[in-house]
Amino acid sequence: MAVRRRLVAGNWKMHTTVAEAVSLAEAIGAGLDAHPACDVLLMPPFISLWAVGRHLAGDPRLQLGAQNLHWARPGPHTGEIAGSMLTDLCTHVLIGHSERRQEFGEDDAVVHRKLEAALSCGLLPIVAVGETQAERDRGAAAQVVAEQVRRALVGLSEDEAARCTIAYEPRGAIGTGRAAQASDAVDAAVGIRSVLGSMFGPVAEAVRILYGGSVDGDNAARFFAEPAVDGALVGGASLRAETFCAIVRAAGPPA
Ligand code: PGA
Repeated sequence: MAVRRRLVAGNWKMHTTVAEAVSLAEAIGAGLDAHPACDVLLMPPFISLWAVGRHLAGDPRLQLGAQNLHWARPGPHTGEIAGSMLTDLCTHVLIGHSERRQEFGEDDAVVHRKLEAALSCGLLPIVAVGETQAERDRGAAAQVVAEQVRRALVGLSEDEAARCTIAYEPRGAIGTGRAAQASDAVDAAVGIRSVLGSMFGPVAEAVRILYGGSVDGDNAARFFAEPAVDGALVGGASLRAETFCAIVRAAGPPA
């Protein structure tokens, strides 16, 4: 079976000025162990990627990602950022976060186009999926998430699929302080891996599946006790270096 190194990713969302982002990255760098047992990814706002990257240059413990990209190549798309503009700034890109889906109407078709754009530029995508609270309440969570995964990754080669990470984030858990039960995160991860298996065969075993939604220093260990959970996508708690480093420490090596 594939050994999946765990990943703890901090999604800073629309927080931090450039100076604040550099300070936060510096504080995280100072708080991390010399050799973290898992991968650590910071996703500051676009405007800070360059400065944070310069600052971290040479620190092999920290990777950088963007929170979004446009599906198109560079052209007349005011206010947008193309994948090819990101490749010398970062290695990863988050696609389909529920805030993008809710606030900007990004549907599975858009997520798919963005995923193709990211892969064609050599970026490593983190595809966020997750049901709404209403969908969970009516028992449709597994089906909704399976469809999101299918529609996002349809048509990818096995090699492309292997470069993806999936983040399961139930909407009711994002930014609410009400993290999912670890058993719900496991059920989702198992379901997602089975969809990936039906689409891509054994390659599915290499794909990391993260949990996200109100992960903090107190509850992180609950999720990381589960071998099915390959890491965490952390929002609010990633803005405090001490807490974020505690989550990284809790993640540990592959379970
Ligand atoms: P949260 O956000 O940790 O603040 O709930 C997670 C996310 O939206 O990625």
